[in-house]
Amino acid sequence: MRLPLPTHRRSFFLIIIASAILTLTWLYLPRHPHRTTVVQDPMTLHSRSRLLPFSFWNHRSVYPERYKGSYSCMKFPEINDLKYAAVSWQWLPIVNGSVYIYGAYWDPRFEEPLVRILVYCDVVPVPKLYCQLWFPNDNEPQTELATPVYGWEPAWGGPTMGVNEPYILTCSCRRHPPEKETAPVAVSVVTAPCGDATNVLDVQNAPFDEEISKRTPPQRNNSSIAVCLKWLHYRSDISASLVEWLQLIKHFGAERVYIYIVRIHPNVRKVLKYYEDQGFVVVTEIDHPPQISGLKQSRGSRDFRDLRRELLPLNDCLYRNLFRHSWLLAIDLDEIIVPPSSETWPSMIGAEIANRSDRVIDALVFRNYFVLDGAQKDLEGPAKARILSHTWRAIAPSPPGSMVKSFINTSTVIAMHNHLPMSCDRQCSYHDVPPEGPGRLLHFREKCSYDNEDCPELHDVMKEDNFASWRATVLQEIRHVLRSLDLESLE
Ligand SMILES: *[C@@H]1O[C@H](CO)[C@@H](O)[C@H](O)[C@H]1NC(C)=O
Ligand SMILES: *[C@@H]1O[C@H](CO)[C@@H](O)[C@H](O)[C@H]1NC(C)=O
Ligand SMILES: *[C@@H]1O[C@H](CO)[C@@H](O)[C@H](O)[C@H]1NC(C)=O
Ligand SMILES: *[C@@H]1O[C@H](CO)[C@@H](O)[C@H](O)[C@H]1NC(C)=O
Ligand SMILES: *[C@@H]1O[C@H](CO)[C@@H](O)[C@H](O)[C@H]1NC(C)=O
Repeated sequence: MRLPLPTHRRSFFLIIIASAILTLTWLYLPRHPHRTTVVQDPMTLHSRSRLLPFSFWNHRSVYPERYKGSYSCMKFPEINDLKYAAVSWQWLPIVNGSVYIYGAYWDPRFEEPLVRILVYCDVVPVPKLYCQLWFPNDNEPQTELATPVYGWEPAWGGPTMGVNEPYILTCSCRRHPPEKETAPVAVSVVTAPCGDATNVLDVQNAPFDEEISKRTPPQRNNSSIAVCLKWLHYRSDISASLVEWLQLIKHFGAERVYIYIVRIHPNVRKVLKYYEDQGFVVVTEIDHPPQISGLKQSRGSRDFRDLRRELLPLNDCLYRNLFRHSWLLAIDLDEIIVPPSSETWPSMIGAEIANRSDRVIDALVFRNYFVLDGAQKDLEGPAKARILSHTWRAIAPSPPGSMVKSFINTSTVIAMHNHLPMSCDRQCSYHDVPPEGPGRLLHFREKCSYDNEDCPELHDVMKEDNFASWRATVLQEIRHVLRSLDLESLE
């Protein structure tokens, strides 16, 4: 049956118009829908975030008269003014790219009082950025030019246009006389000295409304050591390994472990809760802003560039803890530094630095020894306790500089990294602990390396029981924790 011609023609036009509308809609859709994730109800989502200046917002609403009248061309942002790129990342669009803004911290360690801000920027070079610093009882922000400290080693490649590169934006926050010397409590990052900000951060650890003096920085606890675990991102149930690792670290005298999580199994959440309740573990959920530049990257180069994202949790761990701990150690779940038999990290470090000359040490560096699953000729205890049961290690350490781990001095380090600090208040000074010790960095792995079937670490091995003085006690503790959390036992 033939449709009458006019109807036929009309449907033809309808189709043309419909497709034109669809094409136009598609063209006008935002290129990157996640780009403008303006959070619907920011208050509920962020109400407990340590990243935002809740105490300052509160102060301003309780004492409105102290914040009245301003000659400045800037307005303090409210929570609804903020632009988000991801749950914990505020977003500042700039020419040809973005700045993603995470956290801000008070840093009074050096001559000039500073505010440090952890950001990513995907434009090279970083354009001029300013800190708008907000002080208690004052409605005029102070604007300072920010210095970007690159968090990565340029010799390893970078910064690259289009890649989210890590920076520590640094702003001096000395008050201009005649103001009294106080610390800023909130900061926004802006592209011009004037103009309303769409981001704001709490300046973490800044003393609220106290007169400050660089000569009296808070007292540091000389014997306190903490561990930073860059992140847990496992779907599988690694609860037994996590308990083993944490119990050992506890015996070794760490005061706390800071654990960042991306994705974890429910059983692992139980374990973390158990240690959080004891005050031994501090858990921080993190996410990453999207890489939205559209830069074409091979898989290999993308994976390598992704390593830079690990610097965010590590530097957050550093700046939150400048005065809480004197040493920080960044290790992964498959690594541990064992002190000499029956000793602790503080006594081991104390002995190692006792004979130093007057030289300040920024990092105490340990060489890496592999302990591979395939190299074990016998086991000391249940195989599931991988650290305690594996006693056959590679005879030779990895080459100098390769896979090293270090305790870093929180008085001097400016940019932290998994292996060695990237930046210190002067040229970083490393103290290499000799391969024979005291103490040993052991690295527990299934295989040689990601692409090698065979390697000397699999054959040139020796038995060395570093855990003899802790094994019985720690195994008992692991069993107890697993039982009390109703988790699968070691056997
Ligand atoms: C933005 O990108 C264009 C094209 O690559 C370039 O010519 C321009 O200088 C860039 N502007 C800035 C501020 O980076
Ligand atoms: C830490 O040690 C230094 C010198 O070794 C000392 O001056 C300082 O008082 C000590 N701090 C604490 C909190 O014990
Ligand atoms: C200092 O650190 C040690 C070791 O973690 C801890 O036992 C002690 O309570 C801390 N002292 C203070 C004053 O916080
Ligand atoms: C420190 O010096 C003393 C005396 O010179 C020496 O007996 C000791 O072995 C040295 N310790 C270290 C860790 O070098
Ligand atoms: C850590 O740095 C501080 C500040 O420079 C210094 O006083 C201290 O001696 C350093 N620690 C070591 C072990 O060098």
